[in-house]
Amino acid sequence: MSVSRIALVTGATQGIGKETSLLLARTGHAVVVSGRRKDAGDAVVREIRDNGGEAVFVPVDVDSEESVAALVAATVERYGRLDVAVNNAGISLDAGRMADEPTSRFQQMLTTNVLGVFWSMKYQIQQMLAQDTPGGSIVNLASIAGLGGIRYSANYSATKHAVVGLTKSAALEYATDGIRINAVAPAAIKTDILNAAIEAGTWSEADIAALQPVGRMGRPTEVAEAITWLSSPAASFVTGTVLNVDGGYKAQ
Ligand SMILES: NC(=O)c1ccc[n+]([C@@H]2O[C@H](COP(=O)([O-])OP(=O)(O)OC[C@H]3O[C@@H](n4cnc5c(N)ncnc54)[C@H](OP(=O)(O)O)[C@@H]3O)[C@@H](O)[C@H]2O)c1
Repeated sequence: MSVSRIALVTGATQGIGKETSLLLARTGHAVVVSGRRKDAGDAVVREIRDNGGEAVFVPVDVDSEESVAALVAATVERYGRLDVAVNNAGISLDAGRMADEPTSRFQQMLTTNVLGVFWSMKYQIQQMLAQDTPGGSIVNLASIAGLGGIRYSANYSATKHAVVGLTKSAALEYATDGIRINAVAPAAIKTDILNAAIEAGTWSEADIAALQPVGRMGRPTEVAEAITWLSSPAASFVTGTVLNVDGGYKAQ
């Protein structure tokens, strides 16, 4: 398989990030698979290589600016440039109504979901501006929780609203530099991230499925398709957009 573009995915060891890495590899990208867990990341890289693709695992903890900067540097050291970045690493820790939530959970989500995306964009944009052919595409993982309120997810919702703000503002700032910056806003997708709420008894799986007009949760591959399109030249006139991947949730 010939590789024409270099992609970096944070939180690629499972869930949406893993499926996005697999699809980017199938569509001609060399993929830097990143996350904290090396074993899980190595397994994703193996799957890509077994299917004829090109990938490498680079560990990152997006809670650390130094770690994020090192990830971008390692990408450039390995492949020479950065064309596509998917800022997917994120956590959801709310388990109940806002006034019952410990401050520490909100602080942790602010660090991972907001600062993690800010630091990622900062170093990715610096690289995209500096390379021989400037430009690139960044896709951030927002959420329907970043576009409106969600019961029992107030703090997570606040962090995803911040991701939307970072996405839209940076898209304006770098539009004339050939850097497109967009976000996807999934509704409930069947991955481990929903387990905290299910385990806390806040939501059942059936409750979560019923939130979407289509009557089911989404699949990680369905979000990966949207991310891959947004990051591709097919979306060359699309920037500053938040694309709902939500089974009709926001149409209600
Ligand atoms: N699933 C949904 O219903 C849904 C809906 C809307 C939006 N989203 C968003 O989509 C993104 C992916 O969600 P998902 O459902 O695929 O979640 P997931 O299955 O829980 O996976 C989260 C990924 O993020 C990584 N991660 C977490 N903290 C990290 C950190 N500090 N540094 C680096 N990597 C970190 C994890 O890897 P390691 O543990 O290896 O570090 C893992 O690969 C998130 O931003 C989430 O908010 C999800």
